[in-house]
Amino acid sequence: MLLLVLTSTITSTLTTSAFHSRAIATGFARFGNTSFRIQNQNAFSINYQSASLSGMTIPQHGSDGSASASASATSAQKAKYISASKQSLKEAGARLRSGHLVSFPTETVYGLGCHAIDPVAVARVFEAKERPFTDPLIVHVNEAETALKLWNASSIVNNKTLNLEQKALMALADAFWPGPLTIVARASPEIPSIIMADTGFVACRSPSHPIARALIGASGVPIAAPSANKFGHVSPTRAIHVMDDLAMEDVWIVDPDFEKDLNRDYKHEVVCDVGVESTVAKVEMISENMGRVTILRHGAVSFSEIANCLDVAELSATFEVIEKMQATGENVSNVAPGQTIRHYSPNVQSFMISNSRYADESNIWTEDEVKYLTSAVVIDFAGRLSSLEGKALAYRDLSTNGNPNIAAANVFDALRWSENIDGAQRVYFPEILVEEENVCKEEALLLAVKDRLTRAASGIVIKFLQ
Ligand code: TXA
Ligand code: MG
Repeated sequence: MLLLVLTSTITSTLTTSAFHSRAIATGFARFGNTSFRIQNQNAFSINYQSASLSGMTIPQHGSDGSASASASATSAQKAKYISASKQSLKEAGARLRSGHLVSFPTETVYGLGCHAIDPVAVARVFEAKERPFTDPLIVHVNEAETALKLWNASSIVNNKTLNLEQKALMALADAFWPGPLTIVARASPEIPSIIMADTGFVACRSPSHPIARALIGASGVPIAAPSANKFGHVSPTRAIHVMDDLAMEDVWIVDPDFEKDLNRDYKHEVVCDVGVESTVAKVEMISENMGRVTILRHGAVSFSEIANCLDVAELSATFEVIEKMQATGENVSNVAPGQTIRHYSPNVQSFMISNSRYADESNIWTEDEVKYLTSAVVIDFAGRLSSLEGKALAYRDLSTNGNPNIAAANVFDALRWSENIDGAQRVYFPEILVEEENVCKEEALLLAVKDRLTRAASGIVIKFLQ
């Protein structure tokens, strides 16, 4: 069994994939202010097996465990598709329990799953994604009770006098689970630091997608799962997107189309029907009697729904709800890790065309601009850039009638589509203006789409095509 020895504080943070591979292969992982040495000794059942998270057994990794399994990719494809049949998910559940990786659909995006309480399995996810250890993972559970144990909040299960933090967590989980809300809260001491990027807070979500639920059930353990893309790339909403990014990794990919009649039109069915990642909300106490819910990422659950839920639970006087979208810093580990401006990037340079340009009815595209369009892909929303259709190399509208649900379900597929157009040298989207304060349910997905496009374009808004 592997031993993770907590060593002294190391201040530098980890950001390069090259370092990841080296770090894990030589048995040394580092994240945040902490470093972990991975050794082949028998002392590391510590808290995890004896704890209330028991039943979640940690696999016995052999002496060549993480190091060889996580060695860098060979030229041969390692990933494989599996079906979503009961038998197949049962085998995938056993694979997860044994510390290996399975990618599965959720209602938001595809996740790259591993046994959340097994640090070696978690390290494999970071390595497969080439993700910095400073960016924590979401733990997926079927039942809120499991999340309460992962948070430091399980005493409420048998105890009627709930504290304020527990009340807020219960209210949010009751209102939005299963569904696209991730709740971050103080972690139980039993949680491996690697999932939390050493923040002491763990994120949990109960997905509603039936395949995700069946897989979690079959594994019998909580599943840590980031989106199943290479770090910084566009999130996947189809099995083939996952294969495109992770073909060289030792991953099983659940494909609901697998073994179905390929002549049928299944490939056009939406698997991840929300299409953008969950809303992330952090719950914390800021004093003994005052709490705060901070929205860290926009998704389908809106600010006003969260505020309303706390109101209904009679917690609005004690909990403020604020937004803290991080769109600028490259290293924001303790605030909104992973929420950097450059995210979801297609491999082709992308720009947002300013509202002031496309909304101007007298606008004429210049000759130079028309030249740029011959090597440009346009991803439109509600026909805002329809005057570019026919001039651009390729054109696609996320939703011609401006339906945010449809746009969200299409946005990641469209970004991946754009980078596969032959000759594409640039991608243009319209700048989408949305009121960001007190966003209601209807606008939540539009804000999420705007957020993803803004990140895809690294925040660059242009008035003149370039
Ligand atoms: O919809 C989703 O949330 C998908 C599906 C697979 O569930 N998962 C997903 O995971 O988007 P990922 O890792 O790509 O994004 C998780 C986000 C990151 O921005 C991460 O920084 C944040 O959640 N997060 C996770 N744990 C956190 C923590 N302890 N504190 C603050 N933010 C956290
Ligand atoms: Mg992601």
